[in-house]
Amino acid sequence: MTTPTLPHISVPPHPVWPLLEPKQKRALMDRIKAYLKREKAVLVAHYYVDGDLQALAEETGGCVADSLEMARFGAEQDADTLVVCGVRFMGETAKILNPEKRVLMPDIKASCSLDDGCPADLFSAFCDQYPDHRVVVYANTSAAVKARADWMVTSSIALPVVQHLHEQGEKVLWAPDKHLGHYVQKMTGTEMVLWPGACVVHEEFKSVALERIRRLHPEAAVLVHPESPDSVVQQADLVGSTTQLIKAVTELPNPEFIVATDEGIFWKMRQLAPDKKLIAAPTAGEGATCESCAHCPWMAMNALQNLADCLEKGAPVIRVDPLIRERAILPIQRMLAFARERGIGSRQK
Ligand code: 13P
Ligand code: SF4
Repeated sequence: MTTPTLPHISVPPHPVWPLLEPKQKRALMDRIKAYLKREKAVLVAHYYVDGDLQALAEETGGCVADSLEMARFGAEQDADTLVVCGVRFMGETAKILNPEKRVLMPDIKASCSLDDGCPADLFSAFCDQYPDHRVVVYANTSAAVKARADWMVTSSIALPVVQHLHEQGEKVLWAPDKHLGHYVQKMTGTEMVLWPGACVVHEEFKSVALERIRRLHPEAAVLVHPESPDSVVQQADLVGSTTQLIKAVTELPNPEFIVATDEGIFWKMRQLAPDKKLIAAPTAGEGATCESCAHCPWMAMNALQNLADCLEKGAPVIRVDPLIRERAILPIQRMLAFARERGIGSRQK
């Protein structure tokens, strides 16, 4: 069996958005609200995008959520247009589930290192080597990769789905995040082969520096997204999806939290738990490159300015090849049906 050699991932620099005066910001937000009405459009935003976008999504009847809830929310709307503020795989999932709706994104270049690190042709060749394995792919993949899968999962449902497959005696081929795959394998005891991809944001968290910060904050609970390396996951009081981490801040009694995920999540955490102290887990330390500094450069491509432009021009539009869509919808629907049956997932209000 051969391990795939991943393509080089080109990580863009964080975009620098011109600072807006409060008056300019209000005017831009009003313009966006008017476009949303005119286009019968709704905003579907991820917790990692800029706080102004999250606020606007909430104010206008859209949603701010993790990948699972973004997919569900989009499918429940009777809007003509879904405007996805997040990264491309989120826009593609929305389009796959809602072919009759127009799906817009502020910047079509908003990718993800997991998606870019798992090209469909290489992935298909990898799958061919394991014909007796169930293929489980993370949401952070292209439509073409999903088209080759049996199941799609997000971080909030990966464990129960793989546990379910394990109980049925299945072996699992997992892609593309090796850290999440390793975590799921360890927790469920499933026989798994892992695609060797990683998230450039979560891979930056440093375990030795985290140990040091934990010593300085003995009352803090450590919250870790499972895309982080095992040495960081091992120090967690709670490992979970973005929604599960937010829920922990509101429900655990600790006065302080050390948070190992994209810093965009702090907007929602502060909104729901203003009295809790939030500390960003360290990305600096031995071996640090700080390609991302705990903020996804692709999520940062979403801003008020290009959101207004995209609504005004009706572009960029997300398109998915109908033949790929026909196949890619199956693993997504399987996950949504499983979530419904088990009552998994909810948004943080
Ligand atoms: P969630 O599904 O937990 O929101 O994760 C999406 C993601 O891209 C994390 O990096
Ligand atoms: Fe992809 Fe990581 Fe960005 Fe999430 S944070 S979209 S996994 S690069």
